[in-house]
Order: sequence, then C-alpha cells, then structure tokens
Amino acid sequence: MRRIEVGGAQSYAVEVGAGLLDTLRVPERHVALIHPTDLPAGFVTRVQKALQPAVTIPVPARDDCKTLEVLSGVLSRLAGANIPRDGAVVGLGGGAATDLAGFAAASYLRGVAFYTLPTTLLGMVDAAVGGKTGVNLPEGKNLVGAFWPPRAVWCDTDTLGTLPGAVFREGAAEAFKHGLISDPTLLDRVLSPDFRPGGALLEGTLADAIDVKAGVVTRDLTERGERAFLNFGHTLAHALEAVTHHGVPHGDAVGYGMHYAARLSRALGGADLTGHTRAFLTWQQPAPLPPVSFEDALTFMARDKKADADGVRFVLLRDLAQPYLTRVPEDVLREEFSGWQQDLHDLNLLT
Ligand code: GLY
Repeated sequence: MRRIEVGGAQSYAVEVGAGLLDTLRVPERHVALIHPTDLPAGFVTRVQKALQPAVTIPVPARDDCKTLEVLSGVLSRLAGANIPRDGAVVGLGGGAATDLAGFAAASYLRGVAFYTLPTTLLGMVDAAVGGKTGVNLPEGKNLVGAFWPPRAVWCDTDTLGTLPGAVFREGAAEAFKHGLISDPTLLDRVLSPDFRPGGALLEGTLADAIDVKAGVVTRDLTERGERAFLNFGHTLAHALEAVTHHGVPHGDAVGYGMHYAARLSRALGGADLTGHTRAFLTWQQPAPLPPVSFEDALTFMARDKKADADGVRFVLLRDLAQPYLTRVPEDVLREEFSGWQQDLHDLNLLT
C-alpha cells in the first residue's frame, strides 16, 4: 500500500493498494454513498458493509450523472435521509460520479465532509485528487462547480481488474501526461506490459502518477499558475470531444491531444518529444478519429478555459518536465494540425 499526502489549507491522504474497499473507516456517523448504476454490484456491497451508509444513492452512468437535474435529486435524497452537517458524502465510481458526489457534498448544508473512492484509472490519476467538483450545463462541461477537497481518497487497485482493456488504456493517458510534464520515469513504466491490473508495476506507477498531481494541487489548488500544466494535451482533446459529440472518450482524446501539443512544442523550438507521444498512441490504440477540420477544431480550442481576451493559450514543453503556457500563432496551429493528421493516418488511427 502507498500513501500520498496532499498538502495545502485542507490536507488529506491518498491511499493506493489492493483490498481497500473492505477496510474503510470514516469518523462521521451519518454517511451517504453515491455510485453510478453501472458499477459491479460487489463494489457497492463491500462499501456498504464497511461504512454502513444511512442512504445509498445510485446515479446515471458516466457524464449522464453530471447534470443539475441529477444533482437536485441527490440533494433531495440527502435531505430526505436527514444527513446532518457533521455527516459525510462518499463518492464511489469513475470521475463523473465522484465529480457529482463532490459537488453535492460542497453544496448540501453549505458543505459536508467528502470522501472519494475512484474505481477507474482516469478517476484515480486525475479526477479524485485536487478537489475539482461539479456538473455540466448544456452549454459546456464543468461550467458549475466548486473546489471542495476530499478528506481522504482510497484507490483500491483491485477495482481496475474489472475494467475493459480500452478503458484502462484510456486512463493511462493522464499518467503518461504526468510523465511528460513532471516525472519522465513514468513514461517507460506506463508503456510496460507490467503496468496492467494485477501487474508488478501497477501500484508503484499509479502512486507516482498520483504523486505528480498531489504536488501540483498542493502548491496551486485553485489554478492560478502551475495547475494549468495538468492540461497538457487537453486543448485539442476537449475540442475533439466536442466536435465528435464525445464519440472519442476523454483519455483517448488526451492521447491525440498530447501528440498535437508535442508537435507544437517542437515547432516553437522545444525538444522533439513526438517519439514519446507517438509511442503512447501506438500502445493506447485509442478509438479511431472521424474526420475533423482545422476550422472546427479551432472554434472549440478558442473556447478553452486557458483562453483569455487575447486568444487561446497552450501548455507546451521545452523538454521533458519543462512545461510552459504560451500563445501559438494560427499559421503554426494550422500547419501542425495537418502534420498531426498525417501522423494519425500513418498510425492507422483515422476512420
Ligand atoms: N484535471 C485537471 C485538474 O484537475 O486540474
């Protein structure tokens, strides 16, 4: 078992290891458990046995739970179960369910204790750590939310064994990204055959990838500076998700987006890291990408949250572990988009 400390005004620990679902303890006496309907029933039963929740609230799977309507239903269930101010909300599941559960915890009675039990690789490496909670609006993702750090995060590595291989590889994009922006020792480990559920490199690699995020959010919880570096590859990724109406899952889009960002980094004078991002795509085998025009991608990239009044900004790399934030001229964006599409064609990743 590995324990990672997240510092800042509200410090907490992230525990990574096998069998954690059976040994959970929280100090609060009244607990509400929130989980998506598509979780293996055994996970819910194990957590219920360990925590004896006063109420268990199933919510729709994936991003279908991240709506104001679902949030309203969850808040009513918390009130109906008389969860008091010194009670707790526990979010079990993937990143969408834990984002919703965290925002319910942040808003119910102006905030109750929150605990996270991520069951996907993406949820463990990214969503569960750092206190970003919220729901989507029809106008865009994560437009309503709060920074509401959990009191503890438990990553039970046994839960990863039930994930389809493609979903595990999807989540690996965020771990590889942490390798590129901060800890290059992760790069070979993520691509190793031993980085798999039950594999010898799973726990240590996962814990080191979480450690990168823990360090960043300890220093910059509210994204005034370095937290933006966690968005390496995400500017194009979010655009691809929007253009394809989420036909490309988030982690797969991040795989594509990291390769584009590596090409932009090289075009602006940085080291050539495209061999790493190409190797990742070859390993990840993301969902094939339907045709996307540069104009469509640019429209959505311009809405990126790192955009300001002067236009869109990208997280790029001078070299491994040397991220920076910069504007990129449109002619460079266009030329590298074309080269990126050619690379995807060569890798057989276009539909
Ligand atoms: N997923 C990026 C962040 O937590 O800041």
